[in-house]
Amino acid sequence: MNKPTPRDLSGIPSFDVDMYTDDQLRDPYAVYDMLREAGPVVYLTRHQCFGFPRYTQVREALEDHVTYISGKGVGLYEPGNQTRKGTPIASDPPYHTKIRSILNERLSLVAVRELQPDIQAKADALVDEVLALGSFDAVRDFSRRFPLIVMADLIGLPEDGRDQLLGWADAGFNLFGPDNDRVKRSIGRFPEVTAYIKSLEQPGRLRPGSLGAAIYAAADRGDITREQAGPLMIAYLMAGLDTTINGISATIMFLGQHPDQWEAVRANTKLIPQAFNEGIRLESPIQLLRRVTSRDVEVEGVTIPADSPVLLMYGSANRDERRWPEATRFIANRNPVGHLAFGMGIHNCAGQFVARLEANCIFDAMVRKVSRIEVGKPEWHLNNIIRGLEHLPATFHA
Ligand code: HEM
Repeated sequence: MNKPTPRDLSGIPSFDVDMYTDDQLRDPYAVYDMLREAGPVVYLTRHQCFGFPRYTQVREALEDHVTYISGKGVGLYEPGNQTRKGTPIASDPPYHTKIRSILNERLSLVAVRELQPDIQAKADALVDEVLALGSFDAVRDFSRRFPLIVMADLIGLPEDGRDQLLGWADAGFNLFGPDNDRVKRSIGRFPEVTAYIKSLEQPGRLRPGSLGAAIYAAADRGDITREQAGPLMIAYLMAGLDTTINGISATIMFLGQHPDQWEAVRANTKLIPQAFNEGIRLESPIQLLRRVTSRDVEVEGVTIPADSPVLLMYGSANRDERRWPEATRFIANRNPVGHLAFGMGIHNCAGQFVARLEANCIFDAMVRKVSRIEVGKPEWHLNNIIRGLEHLPATFHA
């Protein structure tokens, strides 16, 4: 895509910062603070794009999909954007409306509610398992296993290939970044994903009645073409794993670091959903996505020309002190309504009811079985746009 240099950068705070170095990904918050302080619109010369670091502008952009379009790609690297052609996250209406309605049919609050008993049973079993271990890694032995079991079953995937899913998802999310080493390492994995998805088209591979089977049933009915089914499967395989894993891990980390907050949740289980929302507000699993402007647009006195890339900083917006008092504090009963961790507007997370249900089940099981959470030093996993832990030493006390 053509990346126009703004006609006039004067008056726009410009920074030569690389948002995707190891150090930056390990701890992005000092740079976010600096960008938010600098203004509502910044220009990132290294990435040749505008950036919105504050809450209000990110939210307004998410709610104005006509001006800030996704169809020209939501990542910074064109070959990466090509891998997501036809997926909901990289589409605009009317095509987006059509494919989103196919996903919504199976992911609505009502549709998801009936999954509760099964997901709760899986959550209880996993909590029992780690309680028996004593000390364990809350990421490797716990958070990473749970959405994998839940989502793979929901999508109806066969047993073979499941062990590759997290690696593919990690590579897929790296491909939202700029042309850096992480992208170079990841792009080679994309053919594996397409071959796997092709293999799922064979009759009998997907469990009848599953989310995956529903996509191919929509193709059989003629609601979408066979070619359009593949990108929807990509959406399921990529979007539903690391995001939920990271949200659960981060919330466990906060609850372990703040025993008083865990006590508060145990005393009032109505706080479970709020604590999870607070966890993903503070450590938003998706940190950065791009939009492209469809017209000249004026934002707080700055004119952003048509066809300009704009980086939306979800992770920064969710820590904007203008919106959140004591923004960096984990407050289990804050109830951070309006946080942007699940996005907003027409691209808001299609799977959020599943993710919320998974989190509710896991923390519900923990409330009943775990009196005290002890955590050690967290270690972060580095990915171009996904923020999450690699390791979190933990002990659950019964
Ligand atoms: C804590 C867990 C999750 C988080 C934080 C999260 C975050 C997000 C965000 C921020 C977006 C918006 C992208 C944008 O603005 O362009 C999104 C979209 C999406 N998410 Fe999630 N997600 C989570 C779990 C899931 C799950 C479990 C699924 C699948 C069942 C899923 C499927 C999707 C899909 C298909 C989209 C694209 C929607 C569209 O463009 O219309 N997500 N997610």
